[in-house]
Amino acid sequence: MTRISFPGAVRTALLVLLVVVIGLLQLRSQTEPEGTGQALAKPRQKLCPQPSFGPRRAPKKFKIAITTGPLAGWAAVRRAAAFPDSIPPLVHLTSKDGRIATKLLPTVRSWRRLLDIDISNRSASGQLIFNNRWHFMHWDDRQISELIAKHHPRLSRSYGKLASGLERSDIGRLAVLHHVGGLYVDLDVELLRDPTPLLRPAQLRGPSRLAENFSCESAVWSQEPPAHPIFVYNRSSIISNAVMMSRANQTFLTFVLNNWPDWFERVWAEKSRRKDTQAVQVTGPAMLQEFYNNYTALKPREPALDWCANMLADPDVFQPISDHYYGPKRMKHVCVKDAARMNELQRLLCQRMAREKFKEKQVPKSAYTVHKFMHLSYENRLRRLQTSAISSVLPILTCEI
Ligand SMILES: *[C@@H]1O[C@H](CO)[C@@H](O)[C@H](O)[C@H]1NC(C)=O
Ligand SMILES: *[C@@H]1O[C@H](CO)[C@@H](O)[C@H](O)[C@H]1NC(C)=O
Ligand SMILES: *[C@@H]1O[C@H](CO)[C@@H](O)[C@H](O)[C@H]1NC(C)=O
Ligand SMILES: *[C@@H]1O[C@H](CO)[C@@H](O)[C@H](O)[C@H]1NC(C)=O
Ligand SMILES: *[C@@H]1O[C@H](CO)[C@@H](O)[C@H](O)[C@H]1NC(C)=O
Repeated sequence: MTRISFPGAVRTALLVLLVVVIGLLQLRSQTEPEGTGQALAKPRQKLCPQPSFGPRRAPKKFKIAITTGPLAGWAAVRRAAAFPDSIPPLVHLTSKDGRIATKLLPTVRSWRRLLDIDISNRSASGQLIFNNRWHFMHWDDRQISELIAKHHPRLSRSYGKLASGLERSDIGRLAVLHHVGGLYVDLDVELLRDPTPLLRPAQLRGPSRLAENFSCESAVWSQEPPAHPIFVYNRSSIISNAVMMSRANQTFLTFVLNNWPDWFERVWAEKSRRKDTQAVQVTGPAMLQEFYNNYTALKPREPALDWCANMLADPDVFQPISDHYYGPKRMKHVCVKDAARMNELQRLLCQRMAREKFKEKQVPKSAYTVHKFMHLSYENRLRRLQTSAISSVLPILTCEI
């Protein structure tokens, strides 16, 4: 073997080159929005907006697309306020501490396609309406507690009594959406196609309409697949908090956040030894459905500008496929075994599945997302799982609360 030895000057030059290359690589990992497995630089924070909903204003020209680096928070500040006539193009994700089960990476990664979607458009008069992209915000437990303590002091006391991370996450997502506006999504929901048209939901017509009687411009709520309400809740439909869109300070969210604390204190506060599965009643879909029914029944004489009579999208729009447990494979047996003690809704659903020969349902072309019901957010399960930083998958905007 021959040994190569470098003269001192060459060695120094190589060393300098190495340092420069490492420096450049580090810089690249900080500015690259896609993230390459390394955490992105933490942006400086600016105050998060809570824009009020006023009379319709002319669309503003708006041009900021900085997602990382020192100006990132700035973009978040302006974002929601720059969309006076639509739900802002912001996706909100939450987790306990910024780390997510590695099994969730594929569904979270599906949202990265939003980085390529430019939602520029021109009005009839040629005025630029949006010149922007979707952005992502992530909220951990600490940020959510801070948000609630600062902006919802009455809610804060009841929030502090919640029995599990699951319950806190249910209430936390409502507070976030109320505060900033945008689209909240669970980590096990996959994006299938461009959701930009959903920012103006009441404008959707014909086959792209979200539901027969959909009539809301300021919010869209998903619903669980029919098998869930029919077999779990003994009702024909149920609202879901896995995918929901809203403007900031929207009146339904205000109604829930204002009235939930008293209701919680009355009905649940004493029952502190709850199971995880009871979260659906305390903070989850069953609670929301009850508040939704009460809110839509109000029919105010002088409704707020963003009051809505119907903000529910059909289940197929966001959650076309049931939890595996209510999938055709098991239901084929259940529909026979339990036939004698089924109620009318259950019998009808079984009949429909039988007509479809208990085949796996296909995701319809019209679906924007599919909810995979992976049940990985329960803290006790998460502890045993391999995790990854969410910031390694998506560029995250933050703002001071
Ligand atoms: C939220 O909306 C209500 C009306 O529903 C309004 O009175 C209030 O000022 C708004 N709050 C903010 C911070 O814009
Ligand atoms: C863009 O503008 C066209 C024509 O005004 C309209 O049909 C279309 O829905 C708009 N797209 C979005 C994403 O707003
Ligand atoms: C839509 O509204 C009409 C009239 O109010 C009502 O008869 C019908 O049942 C509604 N459809 C749905 C799917 O809610
Ligand atoms: C389901 O609801 C119906 C009314 O909607 C009621 O008659 C029935 O008793 C309920 N079944 C159960 C098991 O609670
Ligand atoms: C809904 O309204 C009914 C009747 O007023 C009331 O008993 C119930 O507590 C309300 N539920 C919620 C969640 O506010």
